[in-house]
Amino acid sequence: MTEIKVLASVPTDAKVVAMGVSTTGPMPRGLGMTRKDLSAHGFDAKSGQTFFVPRAGGHGTLLVGLGESKSVTANSLRNAGAAIARATTKVESVATTLLNDTRVEKRAAAQAIVEGYRLALHRYVDLKKDKSAVANTSRFVLVTSTNAASAKTGVTRGQATANATCFARDLANTPPAHLTARMISDLAVAQAADAGLKAEVFNKDQLKQMGCGGMIGVNKGSVEPPRMVRLTWKPKGATGHVALVGKGVMYDSGGISLKPSDPSHAVMKMDMSGAAAVLATMLSLKALNVKTAVTGYLMCTDNMPSGSALKLGDVLTMRNGKTVEIHNTDAEGRLILADGLSLAAEQKPHAIVDIATLTGACLVALGEKVAGALTNNDELFTQIKKSSERVDEPVWQLPLVKDYRRLLDSNVADMRNIGGPSGGTITAALFLSEFVNDIPWVHLDIAGPMKVDGDEGWMNRGATAFGTRLLIDFVTNFKRR
Ligand code: BES
Ligand code: MN
Ligand code: ZN
Repeated sequence: MTEIKVLASVPTDAKVVAMGVSTTGPMPRGLGMTRKDLSAHGFDAKSGQTFFVPRAGGHGTLLVGLGESKSVTANSLRNAGAAIARATTKVESVATTLLNDTRVEKRAAAQAIVEGYRLALHRYVDLKKDKSAVANTSRFVLVTSTNAASAKTGVTRGQATANATCFARDLANTPPAHLTARMISDLAVAQAADAGLKAEVFNKDQLKQMGCGGMIGVNKGSVEPPRMVRLTWKPKGATGHVALVGKGVMYDSGGISLKPSDPSHAVMKMDMSGAAAVLATMLSLKALNVKTAVTGYLMCTDNMPSGSALKLGDVLTMRNGKTVEIHNTDAEGRLILADGLSLAAEQKPHAIVDIATLTGACLVALGEKVAGALTNNDELFTQIKKSSERVDEPVWQLPLVKDYRRLLDSNVADMRNIGGPSGGTITAALFLSEFVNDIPWVHLDIAGPMKVDGDEGWMNRGATAFGTRLLIDFVTNFKRR
């Protein structure tokens, strides 16, 4: 593990010092190279670009492009932190003057640099004998000539959000046999007390008794029992109460509506990315001294075909009493979220946010970089949007078109679990909206950004844990109306 520190000057043992360079303004002193010289070597200070200038004895200089100086934000610094990490994995001691190289406020700047640095270094190596992908750097120093206290707070916060994100990534990258519903609930319980949380686990019998027909129905085909975990964070003098509900499908085979045998479905081990984001968020609240009360629901089960599996035409009675006719067992996420949302709504929180790898349609609509967001409350969405921008986890609002509700009409039950051939993200959200009792609610569909295929910015190949930092920022800054 790399130690990260704030110091007033570059430590003597630093082998590489990373400096931020914008496309305008002065060049770092002592480099002995002009902007023109560097340009001739292909370095134009574009955002994310790096260029290493070695030196015999003393330390080499890593130039890190920041783009136009006017448009440098905490988000550019996060990417700069990531670029430094990728360029220095084999370097023992690294320092950066980034905090002095921009006008971004020290705390936000330090937090962002630490996030980018740590997230770019993250590798899931639990199941590899060869762990050489892990960086050798033992010390990363953020140099600042002013406001060291703010910078230190930023580092502490960045460590907490990076811990959460790396943990959620590890969970999502873990193969389904290595992380069952029982195992993730055991993990949550094992870590809850240290994180100041109350943890309650509900097993199959309890879920049955509670009337959680969605959880029981989706689990019917699996030999692995389901688990619901409720985590509670109740700080003294809480200023509001938020409920978070995460989709925790440990593996989504589609059930009887089996997915085609396509290698791309190996990523359906990541269908618990929503639950992972909620768990990681809950575990970070104490370290971040969050003043909002937060209840987290992890809705965990497999979705499997078998002789006992849910069938098409079956009707489930959900926690809130509504009945659902099954027309496609691959539309399982909404069934388990329905029970979680109902339980959350019963507590009458000021806001509910659910996060789920819910629809392939959202991936088609918005691609791999942007999550879909649907809401019954535009003011709450504005809070989510601001968090999204601050943490650089982009979301785009899609409309909750009331008129499409009829696409969910069923002949025999209150609704069916799929809509028509189009607008799949919207009809899924309309389905969920039946379970929130008009409490302000935002649904985040992270099917697109749950994973990436290459290393880029704060993301690395594999599970992204998208939404973790967004949820943390949201509950940290939540304002009840
Ligand atoms: N987990 C999937 C959605 C998904 C697809 C996530 C691709 C990430 C990448 C979800 O349970 C699902 O299967 N949705 C179906 C819904 C359909 C049957 C209405 C889909 O999107 O095809
Ligand atoms: Mn599915
Ligand atoms: Zn799914």
